[in-house]
Amino acid sequence: MYTHLQRDASRPPVTLATLARMKADGEKIASLTCYDASFAVLLDAADVDVVLVGDSLGMVIQGHHTTVPVTMDHMVYHSAAVARALQRPFLITDLPFMSYPSQALALEHSVRLMQQGGAQMVKLESGGKQTEIVEFLASHDIAVCAHVGLKPQSVHKTGGFRVQGRERETAARLLEEARSLESAGADIVLLECIPATLGKAITAALQVPVIGIGAGPDTDGQILVTYDVLDITTGRKPRFVRNFMDGTGNNLEALQQYVRAVKQGEYPAPEHCF
Ligand code: KIV
Repeated sequence: MYTHLQRDASRPPVTLATLARMKADGEKIASLTCYDASFAVLLDAADVDVVLVGDSLGMVIQGHHTTVPVTMDHMVYHSAAVARALQRPFLITDLPFMSYPSQALALEHSVRLMQQGGAQMVKLESGGKQTEIVEFLASHDIAVCAHVGLKPQSVHKTGGFRVQGRERETAARLLEEARSLESAGADIVLLECIPATLGKAITAALQVPVIGIGAGPDTDGQILVTYDVLDITTGRKPRFVRNFMDGTGNNLEALQQYVRAVKQGEYPAPEHCF
């Protein structure tokens, strides 16, 4: 057994085993996105369980309209900055657009995110063909989060940022996709922008933890873009966003409020759901 010399024993790091235990115990998983070391320190201090270096950085950091322009070099750079600053949270990093078109490239890029970016798990936008990629990565003992529902990397093909799974057939397809991804070896499933009833059904059908964004209150955990939580993002916000700066004096307090609201089941409320 190897031990990190400076680890604070009172705050053991979150692992996949911790997240499985949380699902079993009904303890909600509080997750947020992060792109740099300063925010990573704040998220850690607020006791966020899971941190995602999301390719949403293409929009909130780089000013693009979509996540499509984000490259592997960008993801490695931001992931490494976040990894250096985190102690307790579990770190997931996104495989960006077209970085996993084949098993070989998915493996090569996952290894980069882990070795150079410090990621503990990689996330890919999945369904259909990507199930085989998940299976291949899992067979190499790479922890994988499968992103289902609204898939921002496909936005030019699907025609916009829209709620997915409203119709009976698409809901059934998404449930089937989530099941296949779990069977293929996905360790976490992330659901984006689906009706709350479907979020509940998928969460109940899977053994692995399910984290939702705009997927209702019944998923095992919630994730939001930190810049939305802290009301840094300007313009029209998605329905599921709540401004946690309201009534708080500073960033750390707002992040702590988010974690508390998720843990206590106060967020998301009905007005945040589809
Ligand atoms: O890229 C990202 O930040 C994400 C979250 C919105 C879940 O995928």
